[in-house]
Amino acid sequence: MKAINPFEVNGEINEDIYIKLVRDFGLKIIDTNLLNKIKQHTKELHPLIEYGIFFAHRDLDLILSEYENGKPFYLYTGRGPSGEMHLGHLIPFYFTKWLQEKFNVYLLIQITDDEKFLTKNLTEDQVSFYAKQNMLDILSLGFIKGKTFFILDSRNAKILYNLAIKFSKHVTFSQVRSTFGMNESDNIGKIFFPSIQAVPSFILSYLLNKPINCLIPYAIDQDDYFRLTRDVLPKLGYPKPASIVSKFLPSLIGEGKMSSSKKDTSIYLNDSEAEVRKKIFSAFSGGRDTKEEQIKYGADLSKDVPFQIYRILEEDREKVEKVKEEYSSGKMLSGEMKEITYRKVIQFLDELKERREKIKDEIEEYMFDEEKIKKMLLI
Ligand code: TRP
Repeated sequence: MKAINPFEVNGEINEDIYIKLVRDFGLKIIDTNLLNKIKQHTKELHPLIEYGIFFAHRDLDLILSEYENGKPFYLYTGRGPSGEMHLGHLIPFYFTKWLQEKFNVYLLIQITDDEKFLTKNLTEDQVSFYAKQNMLDILSLGFIKGKTFFILDSRNAKILYNLAIKFSKHVTFSQVRSTFGMNESDNIGKIFFPSIQAVPSFILSYLLNKPINCLIPYAIDQDDYFRLTRDVLPKLGYPKPASIVSKFLPSLIGEGKMSSSKKDTSIYLNDSEAEVRKKIFSAFSGGRDTKEEQIKYGADLSKDVPFQIYRILEEDREKVEKVKEEYSSGKMLSGEMKEITYRKVIQFLDELKERREKIKDEIEEYMFDEEKIKKMLLI
């Protein structure tokens, strides 16, 4: 059974499935026109959008046009703290950081400890432990200080609750049931929760008492939440949030997503060098079976997981082009490709660890506080 929703992602995921989801969800593919429009502001394109990992959207064109006319927007994304983070989890954040820097905008990051308590077999202590760890992992990517704030659901419960009840008044059980596939045996917290995830998409409009556009980067399994949000917000007098939507980072075995349930197919941020090496060297390769065939035919890059990880993490585009040329033409062997990827991943993880250490004592400054935000935005 194939299922892609906030609670499960099952089965092999291929291009056809993404195209079907885009159609079913009413998303739009990010086309060349829109890429060019983005480029006008960002000059270069981030590899994650250039290579089609962030591939679909809703109203991104609209938000950019309004931005061009002097109407600002802010970014909203999030993380459910159900465990340690792996590279696949960091991808949307890595891209969000780029967006934040290019447009110099505010960013709200919701940490849904309540959601994971309700939907996973975890205690409050466990989710609160992961929440703290995950926030540090996310911050280790290096977001703009003073413009980046975590909404931690349990901590910001008061404002979230007060806004969520307004939202929930416009949502029926049958809507939640059909959107998320929930049923009568789901706990009632889970049924109410979508209202909580909707709040950050209008919280700034609420605090400022005027409409501010919101752009939400997320992986496609979260789309249910934001279709619902878009239905309801006009009824509360707030603008519909725009979306920019990603596929999943291919897992190391070359199918499905990099999932936390398949431990040895995902690279964790705290994996040792030996573990990273082992995982990358056993990853699905697009290289040919023998050296002779590889030299003759070259690698199939579209299937090569190490290459796909490498091109996301390598900032020097010329290097990527060179590797691409050599590997696809057979000049480079799959072992060399894996070695290059391994070194890049280790460098990336080391940089994260270094920043994580520095940011440890500053986390309080990144926490959302109603009064703090209001003051900041009103000046
Ligand atoms: N529900 C998301 C998860 O399980 C967390 C989340 C909350 C989120 N708000 C978001 C993700 C906004 C993307 C965008 O991980």
